[in-house]
Amino acid sequence: MSLRDLYPTETPPFHDVTSDVTSRFDWRFDDGRKSLLGLYEKGKDKQWNALERIDWTLELDPENPQELPEQLLPIIDAPCYKKLSRAKQIEVRRHHQAWTNSQFLHGEQGALLCAAKITMSVPDLDSKFYAATQVMDEARHVEVYKKLMEKFAIAYPMSPPLQTLLDQVLEDTRWDMTYLGMQVVIEGLALAAFAMVRDQAQNPLAQQVNAYVMEDEARHVAFGRLALRDYYPQLTMSERREREEFLIEACYLMRDRFESREVWETMELPVEECIQHLRESGTMQQFRSFLFSRIVPIVKDIGLWSERVQSAYRDMGVLGFASVDIDALQARDEEVAADLDARRAYVESTIRAAGE
Ligand SMILES: [Fe+2]
Ligand SMILES: [Fe+2]
Repeated sequence: MSLRDLYPTETPPFHDVTSDVTSRFDWRFDDGRKSLLGLYEKGKDKQWNALERIDWTLELDPENPQELPEQLLPIIDAPCYKKLSRAKQIEVRRHHQAWTNSQFLHGEQGALLCAAKITMSVPDLDSKFYAATQVMDEARHVEVYKKLMEKFAIAYPMSPPLQTLLDQVLEDTRWDMTYLGMQVVIEGLALAAFAMVRDQAQNPLAQQVNAYVMEDEARHVAFGRLALRDYYPQLTMSERREREEFLIEACYLMRDRFESREVWETMELPVEECIQHLRESGTMQQFRSFLFSRIVPIVKDIGLWSERVQSAYRDMGVLGFASVDIDALQARDEEVAADLDARRAYVESTIRAAGE
């Protein structure tokens, strides 16, 4: 199935980003850093086949596809939503979930391209090794979310703010900017959003997809962290300032402009009223700050922690996340995926035993 048939608006088949990226050979063949090689080994060991590990016979719910709590629809209390018929409300909810998952899908394709770009341009071979495993991971994530969109039977094109950030990240010729934009900001946001679905969705297919993708993503974020933690102390003050400016701008862009405008337009709802409501709604404010729970501790860890960055996070009300234990979160992401595997194995063995 082609997703082009599912988009509500005419969408071009391709989007090109051109850049003067340097592809670099590393002739040193050094032994490499233990931390990065350890992650590379883990990347190899933890490969999985999306067709086998996920139970694709499971279906989404026709009225609430991922079976999410009602409050996660950001316009739930908006007068323009309340006066809709029940059938129309269901349609809005389906579209909003489809929009969110479409952004996951497009973000995954962006990650695929970024991981390939990192493999080409990063100077050290140990990083190239690891990045190569991430290329495979991201291809699998694109595969998984594409299949999920088929189940939704609704899909949206990439939202303009996400496209802006991805274009910027892909155009930049400095290898570390790809890490910063992709591995820290976009993957950090995605991890928090996936966690929200994994932990709140009652739908088993939605749980599986997000838990298994998260298990991989936690490694990707760790990769960005390890590579940048080594690199950023070597930069001059002005080089570091440039990174900080980019980071602050990217965070505001993701927080303020990611407002699912396309859904309200397609549903023929009063767009500005919906967006105004979304900005002011308490649940949404909580959700938007939660999205930064994985980014802030990493930014601190990689040393981009000037007063300017801290004051931007203070302004966004997310500075408190600086103390989040990111290693503990990563360990939990792996546990949740293992639990789901165990649950499925148990169910299957019970069914087999009953049939014997
Ligand atoms: Fe991914
Ligand atoms: Fe990733």
